[in-house]
Amino acid sequence: MEIIVVEKSPPLKGKIRVNGAKNSALPILAASLLGTEDIILEDVPKIKDVEIMCEVLRTLGAKVEILDEGIIKINAKNLDNYVTPYNLMNKMRASLLVMGPILARLGKAVCSQPGGCAIGTRPIDLHLKGFKALGAGVETEFGNINAHTDKLVGNKIYLDFPSVGATENIMMAATMAEGVTIIDNAAMEPEIVDLQNFLNKLGADIKGAGTSTIKIKGVKKLGGASHQIIPDRIEAGTFMVGAAITGGDVIVDNVITSHIKPVIAKLREVGVEVIENADSVRVIGTDKLKAIDVKTLPYPGFPTDMAAQFMALLTICEGSSVVIETVFENRFMHVDELKRMGADIKIDGKSAIVRGVDHLTGAPVKASDLRAGAALILAGMAADGTTEIENIHHIDRGYVDIEARLRSLGARVYRKTVE
Ligand code: UD1
Repeated sequence: MEIIVVEKSPPLKGKIRVNGAKNSALPILAASLLGTEDIILEDVPKIKDVEIMCEVLRTLGAKVEILDEGIIKINAKNLDNYVTPYNLMNKMRASLLVMGPILARLGKAVCSQPGGCAIGTRPIDLHLKGFKALGAGVETEFGNINAHTDKLVGNKIYLDFPSVGATENIMMAATMAEGVTIIDNAAMEPEIVDLQNFLNKLGADIKGAGTSTIKIKGVKKLGGASHQIIPDRIEAGTFMVGAAITGGDVIVDNVITSHIKPVIAKLREVGVEVIENADSVRVIGTDKLKAIDVKTLPYPGFPTDMAAQFMALLTICEGSSVVIETVFENRFMHVDELKRMGADIKIDGKSAIVRGVDHLTGAPVKASDLRAGAALILAGMAADGTTEIENIHHIDRGYVDIEARLRSLGARVYRKTVE
């Protein structure tokens, strides 16, 4: 088994380039199933989730070639399979994102029903509500979701919650529906804008992404395009917290600063200096970290995917902080692991009260999900002694070679194979 070993690290120093966004790459790879000509995607991160999505596309009949580091060519002209099998769905929930495109292309789509996961029950009712509103029949039986239609017809769809995945799935399904589809209370994340830009390059007619109302005029057919994935705002935020937690001085390059406003604002509140440049930020740590409150919200609020990393930082800030999680129902799995490292945290429903301690101490810990794993690496860099992190497959789902990249900034983070 592989583990990540983290030793107390000196203040991080240097410059690091952020990769393309996981949460943009996955829906855009799924959306590639809509096109019937060559598609070239650039800056696709080399992470496990992308590997799984490529496997899903191949299973469905698309040709997927890795041309170079970060460059993937897809041709889905001969898309012929409408079933996403359980073993792939089970590996990654985001496999569900192929359902909208397959339904649009083939008029039917079967996906095995995703199970529960570490951060909550994560229902998919809004995805299915959208497909139904577009005229599809949807049945769930024998562990599968079965969607089918003679033709999809545009409609007005109100989302009860601005779900990122449901917004994307419905957008993709509606690209070739007859007439106009309007999604109200749509998610406004930058990754939705990236998806809109990509789909429009393929020939779709979509407006409004980045606002809460998205309008999709159905077109007959989608073709091919080249597209560069936007930078990963969560990876950027993780490195920024790395600089803050070690009291370092790091330039995080390839960022769109408007995408990371809440992270910049909250780091400044903690006492860290953040200098914004055109496409980079410089984060300069302080030895006087102050407690703050953080509440996760859909974009443009503070991202739920940054809450665990911030909590790692708050464990050593002076005073009491409160972290409120409003997006997912159960996203405090890392709390017990941080407590093993000496953190003082109490959970009260959706809130975690973090009382800053003088120092953390290294311990054997387990990553419960992707961002929880990142939080443990960050905490380990600030903790006295050695932290050994198990279950690092969660971390590999979303970060490219995280230990080597942190080492390039001076961190003492290594991967080790143990019995
Ligand atoms: C995406 C991101 C994930 C991020 C999350 C919230 C990808 C691949 N993943 O996940 O990293 O943490 O957005 O920013 O982009 N919900 C329903 N019914 C549905 C769908 C969602 O109730 O049909 C609920 C979920 O249970 C959750 C909330 O809506 O409580 C947000 O989920 P959603 O925005 O859909 O997240 P994902 O798209 O799964």
